[in-house]
Amino acid sequence: KKVVLAYSGGLDTSVILQWLRDTYDCEVVTFTADLGQGEELEPARKKAEQLGVQEIYIDDLREEFVRDFVFPMFRANAIYEGEYLLGTSIARPLIAKRQIEIAREVGADAVCHGATGKGNDQVRFELGYYGLEPGIRVIAPWREWDLNSREKLLAYAEQRGIPIEGRKEGGGSPYSMDANLLHISYEGGVLEDTWTPAEEAMWRWSVAPEAAPDQPTQIDLDFERGDPVAINGERLAPHELLARLNRLGGDNGIGRIDIVENRYVGMKSRGCYETPGGTILLRARRAIESITLDRESAHLKDEAMPKYAELIYNGYWWSPERRALQALIDDTQGTVNGTVRLKLYKGNVIVVGRRSETDSLFDASIATFEDDAGAYDQKDAEGFIKLNALRLRVAARRRG
Ligand code: ARG
Ligand code: SIN
Repeated sequence: KKVVLAYSGGLDTSVILQWLRDTYDCEVVTFTADLGQGEELEPARKKAEQLGVQEIYIDDLREEFVRDFVFPMFRANAIYEGEYLLGTSIARPLIAKRQIEIAREVGADAVCHGATGKGNDQVRFELGYYGLEPGIRVIAPWREWDLNSREKLLAYAEQRGIPIEGRKEGGGSPYSMDANLLHISYEGGVLEDTWTPAEEAMWRWSVAPEAAPDQPTQIDLDFERGDPVAINGERLAPHELLARLNRLGGDNGIGRIDIVENRYVGMKSRGCYETPGGTILLRARRAIESITLDRESAHLKDEAMPKYAELIYNGYWWSPERRALQALIDDTQGTVNGTVRLKLYKGNVIVVGRRSETDSLFDASIATFEDDAGAYDQKDAEGFIKLNALRLRVAARRRG
């Protein structure tokens, strides 16, 4: 029997690795993804080798992640519950997909992840596994074992000779963290009291808005078919572009949030997130859509957005309804071409200009407050308003 384990190299997944062998007498294949979490992956390989793993997969998925997952999601302008930019949610379907591919390559009959039984991630991973490989066997140790405390985990590690020094999950941070090119998240620890403010030292990617430079940073973002392609005229690959935006945003105190969200499994959870590049991108996307999208297409997208965001949050990336919504959203994006000019300043993303040489629907000769030379006949508005008012008038008369 063979199991493909989503392996970070940290203590938890190292214990899982050994526990799988002890419990199922199986061979474990490890898979570690580079999603731009900004950590060295060689230590994960070393650790897996130390633990005697024969087949070790370490894959750079950064480009695929941003091009095929983050950017398509941003075309929807997706936000969960008004605030969360879905940084963790959007990474899970890709990890699940690659894990299933590896399971096929190595002839494994099971896959395993290190998410707890209380969260969203277990759902996202497993809906992905089953959606892509209906017969796969899934192992979720956190739902099976009784190592439900730090001490028990450490005791197991010690007893089974798993090195606990060096890298821990989150580098020994007191938080449950998850990072990729879109965001870094913090949950647990002191954040479990919803009134306790996050300490400044927790944040890793951004300066506090009040500590950001006193001068704004101006940037131009170019879009093609709804996706960003260049910063200040310099064309960049998707993952490079997002990394660049993260730096620009982080330096200017952009993209921090502190929220309580509704998990799919039913509980409320307090979390802090840094999404500097995503925060810039969302604002810029709305600005370019404001001149290039037809009003009703834009409003239709906006109506579908909360549903789309909920699908991503709940783990339904590999579902027919997500694909259907994606097709609708993508169909609107052919005209979303042009440039947005932004000022980044102390936590704010300020749009100062937007233009599209090929696809703008903005017509100054129609919109002008000056003489429009007959482009728009103001008399037309009278009948337009009167017919729209008809039912209001009938109702008002009935009220008396
Ligand atoms: N609450 C966020 C979400 O559900 C972040 C989850 C973070 N995951 C983690 N393993 N620390 O998307
Ligand atoms: C976990 O429970 O493993 C992390 C949090 C979540 O998945 O929501």
